[in-house]
Amino acid sequence: PGKALFFAQNITQKMKKKERRSQGWFGKTGKDGLIYRSWFRKQGIPTHELTGSKPIIGICNTWSELTPCNSHFRELAEFVKKGILEAGGYPVEFPVMSLGETVMKPTAMLYRNLASMDTEESIRANPLDGVVLLCGCDKTTPSLVMGAASVNLPTIVVSGGPMLTGRYRGAEISTSDIWRFSEDSRSGKISQEDLYVAESGLCRSDGHCGVMGTASTMACMVESLGLSLPGNAAIPAPDTGRKILAHMSGMEIVKMVENDLKLSDILTREAFENAIMVNAAIGGSTNFVIHLLAIAGRMGVELDLEDFDKYSAGIPLLANLQPSGKYFMEDFYYAGGLPPVIRQLKDKLHNGALTVTGQSIGKNNEKFENYNKEVIAAIDEPFNPLSGIVVLKGNLCETGSIIKPSAASPELMKHTGKAVVFEDIDDYKNKIDDPDLDIDENSIMVLKNVGPRGYPGMPEVGNMGLPPKVLAKGIKDMVRISDGRMSGTGFGTVILHATPEAAEGGNFAVVQTGDEIELDVEARKLNLLVSDEELTKRKAAWKKPASPTERGYVSLYVKTVEQANLGADLDFLKGNSGSEVTKDSH
Ligand code: FES
Ligand code: MG
Repeated sequence: PGKALFFAQNITQKMKKKERRSQGWFGKTGKDGLIYRSWFRKQGIPTHELTGSKPIIGICNTWSELTPCNSHFRELAEFVKKGILEAGGYPVEFPVMSLGETVMKPTAMLYRNLASMDTEESIRANPLDGVVLLCGCDKTTPSLVMGAASVNLPTIVVSGGPMLTGRYRGAEISTSDIWRFSEDSRSGKISQEDLYVAESGLCRSDGHCGVMGTASTMACMVESLGLSLPGNAAIPAPDTGRKILAHMSGMEIVKMVENDLKLSDILTREAFENAIMVNAAIGGSTNFVIHLLAIAGRMGVELDLEDFDKYSAGIPLLANLQPSGKYFMEDFYYAGGLPPVIRQLKDKLHNGALTVTGQSIGKNNEKFENYNKEVIAAIDEPFNPLSGIVVLKGNLCETGSIIKPSAASPELMKHTGKAVVFEDIDDYKNKIDDPDLDIDENSIMVLKNVGPRGYPGMPEVGNMGLPPKVLAKGIKDMVRISDGRMSGTGFGTVILHATPEAAEGGNFAVVQTGDEIELDVEARKLNLLVSDEELTKRKAAWKKPASPTERGYVSLYVKTVEQANLGADLDFLKGNSGSEVTKDSH
């Protein structure tokens, strides 16, 4: 009884200090406090851990055996916990919906916004003072950052890290090679047996895709936004450095809570512009566009599709990494990772932008060296002057479409050709291998109804495989246009995110086989050479496709998803509801 009295006094004393958010639960007396504390004690957590001297730090974990890129996150979380405990916080780990890029049907992108809602509500509803987001595979990063942004607590990101470089018969390979293997097998150059060999050496360690695909792009995005410790993006998942970074991030979040350093202090317009510039220098994924727009939307920061073109311009490609270049994330790490890229951009970036360290991005990165100029080029001798994301407009995509010039063929950047239109993915699959399909290398392949509403979910099919008869001539690229996305590991002269998407009407919905299309990347133009009268006539005959379902999340998604040029978030999720919850549960 004496001890209980001591705890009671202790609790009352702590409550007199400036209350932590978590004390809105654990600091209560009476019935509510009894309930909130006793169930935590049940887990072996002594009451003194909960009474306000320590911040309660949530570790938001996307571990799942259905998300193989994040399969090491239970172990990683233990290192975050050590750091939190060392710095005087108390860690509590919790799961949120995890999105496995490779297995989820019809596409993990359909669920990004759902996972963001899970994250947002899980953070807000619980007794947390700060949050560590454990993200890895493509969609797990934007979904967690979007959700956390709508709550705005002190938040830090720990990425899972890329996997080690793969091997195929002695050669180095990565997920980018999937597209090459696929075309080689479709044209009969390699056998199913070869594909089995590739399969056994492609993904040979913990971690996400080991090139500058979407997952690594997202890890670089959080680092350049200032949401992670410097160096977060490149450390391979199996490297000891990843565990150390997790530990240090655990220490950092406790400091952030003490200093009340919130996401809104970090995610400013300057931070978003920095991220766009860094993304250009690394040859980041086209998916960067849609995710950054969605995060900005949650923060209430004005960011337009045009900003990606505007702030990429004049930034050369420094990272010689697949799919725009030659090397792998493992090599990028050995060369120094993202910090020497950021340091080299110091004349362009907003160096004063605040980061999770409480220091500016300029200060964080001022001392890092580049150990390999073959992998990270010097800014005065860039790997490729073409970089970033170009935004194309014209009557084929009135509100914009995008192309990644560094992953495209220079000779196709200005090209006029006849459209070969596939009305949807099934139409494409049914026709593409047909030797009678009227198509050659000068044709422009157009794939409709793979946008957010049309599919639904906007899958990564924009880099559609070429027809076998074109591949047989040794041709590896053609102009391809769709309202869908492309894997961050993909490449080619691929125009993506055409808006308004086909399912919304607009000219993209009525383009027909045989129409002439004119692409001019330098002039930022994508035009359908068909008269306005003809287009008006076609549009009058066009019928909006019905929603595939009237129930569940998918029906909500189809009704409320915005177009790709706005970030493809659900319209009612834009903005921030803060962290306050005024009502108790009992
Ligand atoms: Fe998870 Fe590529 S499949 S990052
Ligand atoms: Mg992907």
